[in-house]
Amino acid sequence: MTIKEAKIRVDALRRVINEHNRRYYVESLPTISDFEFDLLMQELQGIEKKFPELADTASPTQRVGSDLSEGFAQVEHRYPMLSLGNTYSEEELREFDTRIAKAFDEAYEYVCELKFDGASISLTYAGGALKRAVTRGDGLQGDDVTRNVRTVRSIPLQLHGDNFPEEFEVRGEILLPHSSFESMNREREKQGKTLFANPRNAAAGTLKMLDSKEVARRGLDSFIYYMLGADLPFASHYESLQAARLWGFKVSEHAQKCSDIGAVVDFIRRWETARKNLPYDTDGVVIKVNSLAQQRALGVTAKTPRWAIAYKFKAEQAITKFLSVDYQVGRTGAITPVANLEPVKLAGTVVKRASLHNADQIALLDVRIGDTVYVEKGGEIIPKIVGVDASKHSENLLPLQYITVCPECGTPLVRIDGEAKHFCPNESGCPPQIVGRIIHFASRKAMNIEGLGDETLELLYKNGLVKNVADLYDLRKAQIARLERMGDKSAENILQGLENSKKAPFARVLFALGIRYVGETTAKKLAEAFGSLDALQNATFEQLLEVDEIGEQIAKSALTFFGEEKNQLLLGKLREVGLCFTAEKQQRFSSELEGLTFVITGTLSRPRDEFKQIIEQHGGKATSTISGSTSYLLAGEKAGSKIQKAEKLLVKVIDENQFLELISKTY
Ligand code: IVH
Repeated sequence: MTIKEAKIRVDALRRVINEHNRRYYVESLPTISDFEFDLLMQELQGIEKKFPELADTASPTQRVGSDLSEGFAQVEHRYPMLSLGNTYSEEELREFDTRIAKAFDEAYEYVCELKFDGASISLTYAGGALKRAVTRGDGLQGDDVTRNVRTVRSIPLQLHGDNFPEEFEVRGEILLPHSSFESMNREREKQGKTLFANPRNAAAGTLKMLDSKEVARRGLDSFIYYMLGADLPFASHYESLQAARLWGFKVSEHAQKCSDIGAVVDFIRRWETARKNLPYDTDGVVIKVNSLAQQRALGVTAKTPRWAIAYKFKAEQAITKFLSVDYQVGRTGAITPVANLEPVKLAGTVVKRASLHNADQIALLDVRIGDTVYVEKGGEIIPKIVGVDASKHSENLLPLQYITVCPECGTPLVRIDGEAKHFCPNESGCPPQIVGRIIHFASRKAMNIEGLGDETLELLYKNGLVKNVADLYDLRKAQIARLERMGDKSAENILQGLENSKKAPFARVLFALGIRYVGETTAKKLAEAFGSLDALQNATFEQLLEVDEIGEQIAKSALTFFGEEKNQLLLGKLREVGLCFTAEKQQRFSSELEGLTFVITGTLSRPRDEFKQIIEQHGGKATSTISGSTSYLLAGEKAGSKIQKAEKLLVKVIDENQFLELISKTY
């Protein structure tokens, strides 16, 4: 491409993208899918990169908060990312060994490795270069976080040596060492941000940040523990680890071959204590059959390989002093007692607070202020108190008096039959409940309003700008911009985020309302079953119960919610603002593919479902089997037998680019 040609194409792309942005953001009437939009954007970015002289600050690629910077592309894993069967007991571990022994007449050995507690990652290398890094996701597809993973220094961008396979995949763990974790949380504390509960959450959160410069600052590290590929030149797992190390990967030096289960148990015993001196978190030992031929012979079940098992360490405990108790009020009014502790080191981090769950739990433990207590870290956000050191339990300590009124608004608490927690019934006047509902509304799985995090929402509430979720849509730029830590740019971002949220489908809106017991899945079921807010509001108890998975508790809760006048007023306002209150049929962009039937096969640049959606959005049909009436076979990489079948039936085979050309008239 000459610079002249580039200029012509860049101008055209900028014009077209600007127009699509306008249709999307201003008119809320997009005429192409996000995918098609991304392609245009990628093309423009590509040319701008090649011809820096064409740079222009007004180019749509320079816009902050553009579609592309949002989230990550989802990609399918070439090999599913399985999990491991796990156990906490030596007995079950020995049963695992018995199963392995039964499978073979020949000898076998194990490799024992530490189980790193971070976020798992799949890395694809081709020609020795890192091509793609994908999170585990649901095991079948994950987020493409290549940009961020490139900043992790222990992950080679280019491999050493030359004896690596042309294309292969390694799996490993991305983790945050204790030192990085603590300095990161110290910084967050200073900035008044919510702290990360543990290094695992922090690592996973960091991997999904949009700003890879910030990712680079955070000090992520990695360990590689598994290799996959068509023809790996190894006979054993252990060999593959050694090779990976030579190629430049960080492989733990603690992996060890064990000739029998006795040696495995010794390894576990040793690391149960020794792990406490490691500079990162581990939560167990992974035991793998070493021979790759034996691994293949053992095979996999639907979810886990039969040739490996994880032995999990029991949660670490620490002993400390219970100083005082705070009571937190959640968005539903539920009260959670939280203990303040004398700071103590636990599993690599300093713990100052622990959950006491509810009044029953406090009574059960008979824990009193001044007691010496055991704290344990589960998977939860904050650790919990699991016991009291009876030998230090002084009789002078008074039993804890559970509060009877809300610590935030003074309303007498109630306790509903069958519920473990006390509740503050002052839904409309209790500040943390009001803010909690607004935070829930704006959160990622609900309306996903960009720019409106917890702190910003609290700020808006404190300044009297929002009292309920509908007020959000009345916000004006100047009101936001003059708040502390805000400015014109963040105000614009928030308004754009609010505008975008109007496109959220009905099911999400329903979830965002925060009706008690109506979680994400329930909201989807209700939206599907009733199709609109009107129908749902008019539904009777019996009609609600007819819906799959809706029980009496949910039905009652929905009836109560819709029966309340203040909620009806709120819903009226939200409707006026333009939120989506009907489960819309699929958005329709064009009739370009009307009457055409597609079958999709092979690996494409995005999940098949997305292509299916695009086909439908342009009026076509996607089916799963090829027949004489199929119009096109859309074939990606590694397409299999469907190609031959298509050829036999004279069905035209097209690739992704040809497919996009079919709908390109709509650009
Ligand atoms: S092997 C097919 N080895 O544990 C086997 N996994 O549920 C692939 N993990 O999500 C896993 N350390 O993220 C393996 N040394 C290790 C590991 C390890 C941590 C994680 C992994 C996976 C989970 C297993």
